[in-house]
Amino acid sequence: MVALLSSQRAVPFRHGQHPESCYFWRKILQHFRSLLQLIGSLQAAGTIGSHITKALLTAGFTVTIVTRLESKSRFPDNVNIIRTDYSAPALKEALRGQDAAVSAVGIAGISTQVEMIDAAEAAGVRRFIVSDFGYGPQHRYLPEFEAVGEPRMAVLAHAKEKAGANKAFTWSAVAIGIPIDWVSVLGSSPFHSTYQNRLELMAAAHLQALKKFPTLGFDIVNRTATIYDSGTELFTGTTLTTGIGHAVVGALRHPDPTANKHLLVRSVQTCQKELLFAFEAATGESWPQTHEKSMDLMRRGREKLASGDKSWTLDLIVAQLLEEGAGRSIIVTEEAADNKILGMPDENVQSLVRDVMDSLA
Ligand SMILES: NC(=O)c1ccc[n+]([C@@H]2O[C@H](COP(=O)([O-])OP(=O)(O)OC[C@H]3O[C@@H](n4cnc5c(N)ncnc54)[C@H](OP(=O)(O)O)[C@@H]3O)[C@@H](O)[C@H]2O)c1
Repeated sequence: MVALLSSQRAVPFRHGQHPESCYFWRKILQHFRSLLQLIGSLQAAGTIGSHITKALLTAGFTVTIVTRLESKSRFPDNVNIIRTDYSAPALKEALRGQDAAVSAVGIAGISTQVEMIDAAEAAGVRRFIVSDFGYGPQHRYLPEFEAVGEPRMAVLAHAKEKAGANKAFTWSAVAIGIPIDWVSVLGSSPFHSTYQNRLELMAAAHLQALKKFPTLGFDIVNRTATIYDSGTELFTGTTLTTGIGHAVVGALRHPDPTANKHLLVRSVQTCQKELLFAFEAATGESWPQTHEKSMDLMRRGREKLASGDKSWTLDLIVAQLLEEGAGRSIIVTEEAADNKILGMPDENVQSLVRDVMDSLA
């Protein structure tokens, strides 16, 4: 017998029986489905966490947000918020009675997940979703990312160790590749409804577009493209607005096949040339192009790193993604992806581009 994700009490089901396979279990799940979400939300650039929260609420989970005492993040209305100093006893208390914890902590707090995992396990939480949302355990990162990768690996190793010692505790991580609609993260943020907030968001979305998407090759505000090498290096990505949230919801809805796994997902597989074609078709305009070598972008990123300029990260992420012939950026093939287990919707390049353009309308 194992316990199903549920609120306050364990709902037992037999091994091999799909938890939502019959009306009875569906009703129990609808009634008791609940989780705690260790999540940070809405800094100026927005977060992956805000979209996960939206997906969890839409899916009918009861969400409690745990946030730092000093946090300036803004959260949706009608959601229980616990502010904590992140000490072990405070975290354990915050997590008590919850069934699952979803961490979307940013890079600066990645290591704090060791304490979060300890507290979750001690509080009886049955599933911990690790804030990974990266490129998967097999990815061939550029050496510059090794220092960033080490604490991530330590957190995953810790989750594995805890799950090994306590069979009632499980973990999942989700590898997404590039969050491909990064530009629309603020434009579509779920937690801002007032006019003033909308104006702030639009300004921020433009800033985001100018900051992030041009490096990826598409300045959607000015409708110009930078094509690296021949623009044909294939890569996969997952959408913030749809794919990532569905993946997390799917991991919680299907606890058995997703337990203790690094799940690999993708919304689309594409290349710069295909994206450009889709942007031109969506806007009915020919977009002026400039051409650059991914090696030049890589060199620029490394120079920035050497001079202490923090924007090196995006340059090297994009150079790593688009380097022609490197063949490292298909995180998972369509056949091997966990999309189906997780119940992720089908997406395509045309719908992605349309949504990105709409987010700036
Ligand atoms: N695949 C990719 O290319 C890609 C791109 C972006 C992000 N990611 C990954 O996605 C995950 C989330 O990233 P994000 O960009 O959404 O995060 P983020 O916006 O930078 O931060 C998320 C939240 O983390 C909390 N936080 C920040 N600093 C902290 C600290 N020192 N200690 C404890 N908590 C802290 C804050 O929550 P409170 O204020 O509520 O406490 C913040 O709102 C990370 O694992 C990141 O590496 C991957």
